[in-house]
Amino acid sequence: MTQLSVCIGSACHLKGAYNVISTFQHLIETHNLHDKIAFSAKFCTKECHKPGVAVALNGQKSVIAAEEARKFFQEQVLPAVEQAQD
Ligand code: FES
Repeated sequence: MTQLSVCIGSACHLKGAYNVISTFQHLIETHNLHDKIAFSAKFCTKECHKPGVAVALNGQKSVIAAEEARKFFQEQVLPAVEQAQD
């Protein structure tokens, strides 16, 4: 199971965490990945000082701009899901 989380602390909220969450939810649905991705929201993960919304993929932290959520999903999350199936 691939673990994906988005920070919903106040700094990330202001930087567009809500948009990242809805983009991820939409893509999980489109790709029918509910049983392959454990998606969760986390409170502040101490990445507030960085530009962007804090996300974690299998424990690996990144910060992404809200408008990069789709790209991140396609370039990072989908390959991680595929790898988990091997
Ligand atoms: S609010 Fe998201 S890392 Fe602090």
